[in-house]
Amino acid sequence: MKLPDELAEEGKKRVEGFPLEGFVYGSGPQSPALMLVGEAPGETEIHNGIPFSGRAGKELMKFLEKLGLSREEVYITAAVRSRPYRWGEKKERDGTVTKRKYNRPPTKKEIMAHALLLDYEIEHVTTPVIVTLGNIGLKRLAGNGYKITDYHGTFIKGPIQKFDNDTYSWTEKEYLIFPTFHPASIFYNPRLAELIEEDISTLKKFLKEHQ
Ligand code: URA
Repeated sequence: MKLPDELAEEGKKRVEGFPLEGFVYGSGPQSPALMLVGEAPGETEIHNGIPFSGRAGKELMKFLEKLGLSREEVYITAAVRSRPYRWGEKKERDGTVTKRKYNRPPTKKEIMAHALLLDYEIEHVTTPVIVTLGNIGLKRLAGNGYKITDYHGTFIKGPIQKFDNDTYSWTEKEYLIFPTFHPASIFYNPRLAELIEEDISTLKKFLKEHQ
């Protein structure tokens, strides 16, 4: 499934002047085993155009392996298509300081600016379940009241948020969302690995029953 060029162009135009760079398309079949919704691409992804191909991607591929799935069998996308960055200073070993770009989470405004891109994919991809990775994807679809720590590993069935005249409204259709932690969260909090394992087992059971 490929986002129409006009829509991608509209998404790019909507974030002109924002501290974002690059543009990464979602990728995967029209009828995947599941759909993954991440946060936003990082440095690796904006250079090769492949979602989740960097460090977090390696972790994600381990999740998929445990589910018995390959990258080709799932649809991978994100709430924001461009890399949110901030300028920071890096101290080199020789004491010199260089300016460089660091990743940061996307803002609400950035998520809304690219909301119509994710809406299109959700409307055109047929999937038994949407797996959100981290708080950004979960809140974008289920609403701000949902927190990953409370809802990870559970199934949320109901309407989801879609872009509507510079705000969100609810879809008529109901979707099944399964939130889990973002694979990069393990780097900051290794204890989450255990919870992710449990979530993967729950999801695996669901996928077996819905083959
Ligand atoms: N995080 C995401 O959400 N997407 C990527 O492509 C990489 C990291």
